[in-house]
This record gives sequence, structure tokens and C-alpha cells, in this order.
Amino acid sequence: MIKRFFFERNNAIIGCMETIIEKIDKNQIDKEVIAKAGEILRRGGLVAFPTETVYGLGADALQEAAAKRTYEAKGRPSDNPLIVHIADYEDLKKVAVNIPAETDILAAHFWPGPLTMIFEKSGVVPYGTTGGLDTVAVRMPADPVARAVIRAAGGFVSAPSANTSGRPSPTTAGHVAEDLAGKIDMILDAGEVDIGLESTILDMTVDPPMILRPGAITAEMFEAVIGEVGVDETLLGDESNKAPKAPGMKYRHYAPKAQLIIVEGDLREEILAIRQLAYAAHRQGRKIGVIATNETVSFYNYGTVRNIGTRENEKTIARNLYRVLREFDEEDVEAIYSESFAVQGIGRAIMNRLEKAAGHTRVSASAVVKKQRYRRITFVSGSDSARGPMAAEILRHLDLKQEYVIDSRGMVVLFPEPANQKAEAIMKSARMTLADHTSRQFDEGNLQDDTLILTIDESEKNKIISEYGEHENVYTLNEFIGDTTAIPDPYGQPLAAYGKCYEVLNGLVIKLAEKINSFAEEE
Ligand code: TXA
Ligand code: MG
Repeated sequence: MIKRFFFERNNAIIGCMETIIEKIDKNQIDKEVIAKAGEILRRGGLVAFPTETVYGLGADALQEAAAKRTYEAKGRPSDNPLIVHIADYEDLKKVAVNIPAETDILAAHFWPGPLTMIFEKSGVVPYGTTGGLDTVAVRMPADPVARAVIRAAGGFVSAPSANTSGRPSPTTAGHVAEDLAGKIDMILDAGEVDIGLESTILDMTVDPPMILRPGAITAEMFEAVIGEVGVDETLLGDESNKAPKAPGMKYRHYAPKAQLIIVEGDLREEILAIRQLAYAAHRQGRKIGVIATNETVSFYNYGTVRNIGTRENEKTIARNLYRVLREFDEEDVEAIYSESFAVQGIGRAIMNRLEKAAGHTRVSASAVVKKQRYRRITFVSGSDSARGPMAAEILRHLDLKQEYVIDSRGMVVLFPEPANQKAEAIMKSARMTLADHTSRQFDEGNLQDDTLILTIDESEKNKIISEYGEHENVYTLNEFIGDTTAIPDPYGQPLAAYGKCYEVLNGLVIKLAEKINSFAEEE
């Protein structure tokens, strides 16, 4: 008794108990480890374990005191009810009453799996577990470790996500340890979870059943099985000031330390908006993060950029979301800009969690994108190995008020080559580099409405016009800035000639920067 008292005090006040961490293989479950977990749970202790959605913080769902300890460890308000996890369908009848007929067919399709259903509770479920409600949330997880733990504990394990209240839910045992080591008895580590977002919650006490939290089982999937389902209207937008029906949905869960801002629009506009926001932050010396996707990550050059997954398979995005948010907590960024996702299929759950993490802060991409006469500046030389790439690199190092993609092309590039070595030596002495440069042939695709084409010599401009016709965005560099200084061609000459060429280019590109910055003021 004395020991328990001491233990609880420590747990509640300073959280310095020892947490056992055990690795466990899903395919070859160690029975002894499971037996130990079961024993801790039966004693009223706390064991974090993997489920297919997120890691859960397990406690015996039928012990009032165990629920209290769960709330303490998580720092969670005790009016936020817990989900009771079962391993066998027959056990549902022990914790729920007035179970509607559709439950069988839903369970046949989606259990075990990432679905939680809400029913009227039976007398055995303490109010501590249901946050004082007369209803109970029940889920039968698919993860084999979870099922073994539930059985070892006696069949009924309450398990909220195993994070500190207000942090992203844990998708690895490492995340659990970050938040709860020293506050719980045991963590079972079976690696990364599969889905990465919490289960779909479906309220079975109303007709038709209503989705209270979107997840991997989507409205479309329910409809295919039982016909129409409702969706809690408070999930649909931030305008509603009604309280959500799942008490947990009202808290600003999943909150990263930095302000998360969702940029919404069509994808092209989102990319432009985030590029401009990131560039503006860069110029002001502010550190920001960007949540990008496989398809878009290469478009971002400023800030801490994270690739969250591929738009072709949004399950990858769901799986990585919380990890990426946690990683941003380790970065010292003050704001995170995220692309947005279509609200359909699992995209609905992704956007729901992103919006909660953002505290519903969104900006419309089209409202943010500033009009710019040019978005890209392409220098064109003969071989794209010295003067063009040098001009581009010099311009990249100047302070431009607006964000531009700056690159170079050549009119006669037979095959891709690295930059001329003497040009690179000169750039290095000026603390710049052409190390990433590969020469590329100019083609018609470079003639875009938003691209300013600046040729080094008159001859390249003439060649573009003769091949592709007149184009209003094509100038020689000199012509564009109103200068006449000849740009020497150092090809085949000693290093000093490259040095002289650099001096001339530098002077002209500085004038160019002034000119394009004057557009920024007008726009
Ligand atoms: O995927 C999951 O469901 C994970 C894993 C561990 O199983 N668990 C989880 O639990 O997400 P938790 O506690 O983080 O979220 C439970 C949600 C809360 O929003 C809570 O308000 C809601 O379920 N909930 C629980 N019982 C409810 C009830 N009787 N009526 C309405 N909402 C309820
Ligand atoms: Mg949670």
C-alpha cells in the first residue's frame, strides 16, 4: 500500500517512475512480454502499445482508478472519454447495450480495424472511462500486439492515443517515450504504425449513424455497406460554434509548437503562395517550415522543407503527418506552411487533423500570391557552361524583393556538362559556386509568359527569334537594363579572362537586380 501511494504521488507530481520499454515483433509475439503487460494492466497500471492507427495508452477499462491515472499521465481533461478496446466481437455485449442491428454488418466489414463505434454503455463500464457519459466508445483493433495485450489484460482496455494531451499522436514507440517515459509503467515497441491517424468514430446511438471523427474508414466506405451516414457538422468547417459531439474533438489537439498555416487553392497557386511566403520570411531572417509532397518538394528553395508523402497514395501522407509535425517541433521554426489536400477518402481525415493542428488557420493561396511580371529569369548563352550560369548565380546572391526561379540555358548544348572549371574557380573566389550546374539546351518550353529570357550576346537572341519567332520576353541582358558594356567571351583563354568577364557580369547583374526590384515596388 505504501509503495503504491508513493508511486502514484511521484507519477502525478514529478513523473519519475521507471518505464519498462520492450521491443516486440508483430509476427512472432513474445508471450512473456505480453503476460507482463497483462499483469501490469490487471494491477491498474499503464501500458502503451501499438495499434494499426496510432500507439495507445492502455489501462483496464473496467477500473475507475486506472482511468484516472490515464488522464494524469496524459495531462488530459477528464471529461474527454476513452475508447474501450476489445479483441473479440462477443465482448461488445458486455460493455454496450441496445446495440443496433447494423452493428453486425459494420463489424463484419470493418472489425478488427480502424473503426470506433459509440453505443449506450452497460453497467460494468465506469463513468471514469466514459468521462461521465452514458455512452461508450468501443473499438476492436487489428494489430496483433494490441489484440494480445487486450486478451492478456482481461478483454477490456481503454486506450487514448499515447501522447501528452496537445501533442501529435504517436506513430512510433519513440514518440510515446518522448511524451510519457517516466509517467507510465511500460511501452511495447513494435515499430512504426500502419495508418498513422486515429480511428474513424461512428456514433451508433443516432439513426442514421454519424461520423464524429473522420479516419481511414471513410463515409464512402460506410455508405457502401449500410447506406447513408451523417457527419458531425462541426467537423465540416470552423464557422460553426457548436460543440463537437465527440468531446475530444473540441480541443486543439495535435498542436505543433510553431503556428501551422494551411494554404488553400489549386495546387499550382498553393506552390506559388508558399514559395513567396517562404521567400519573404527568408529575406526577413525568419525561420519557417514547409509541408510539401513528393510531387512538389523540388519547387521549394527556402525554409525547412519536409516531404510528407505522395499525392498518388494519400495513405503515405496520413502515415507521415504526425511524425512530420513532431519533427517540426524539434526545428526552431516559427511558422509552418502546408499545402492542402482534397477532402475525400482519407483526405478528409488528413485535412481534419491538419486543420486542428493549425487551429483552423488557413490562407487562400490566391489571396496571398502577389502578381509578378516575371517569376522566372533564364540567362541564355552559347554552351551554358560559363557566362550564363555565372550570371544566374550572381543574381541568386543578390537581394531581390520578389522570389524568382533563376536558371540558365544554352543555344548549343550537345550533351549535359558541368560548368567550365575556370568559371567555377572564379566564382569560388567570389564565394559562390557552379558545382550544382549542368548545362541544358534551350527549347520552346523556356518561352513562357512569366519567364524573362536574357541572352548574353545578340547572336543568341537572334537565334531564338529565328527559331521560335518574335517573343516579347526575350532581350539581351544589355538591352533589358539599358547598358552597352560588352560582355567578353573568355572561352579558351587563361583564368584572368574569366576574372574580367566576372567583373563585367557582376556590374550588369547588379543593375539587373535594381531594375527587377523596381518592378516589385510598382506591383
Ligand atoms: O485510433 C484510435 O482510436 C486510437 C487508438 C489508440 O485506438 N485512440 C484514440 O483515442 O484516438 P483518443 O482518446 O485519443 O480519442 C478518443 C476520441 C475522443 O475524441 C473522445 O472524445 C471520443 O473518442 N469519444 C470517446 N468516447 C466517446 C463517447 N462516448 N461519445 C463521443 N465521443 C467519444
Ligand atoms: Mg488523442
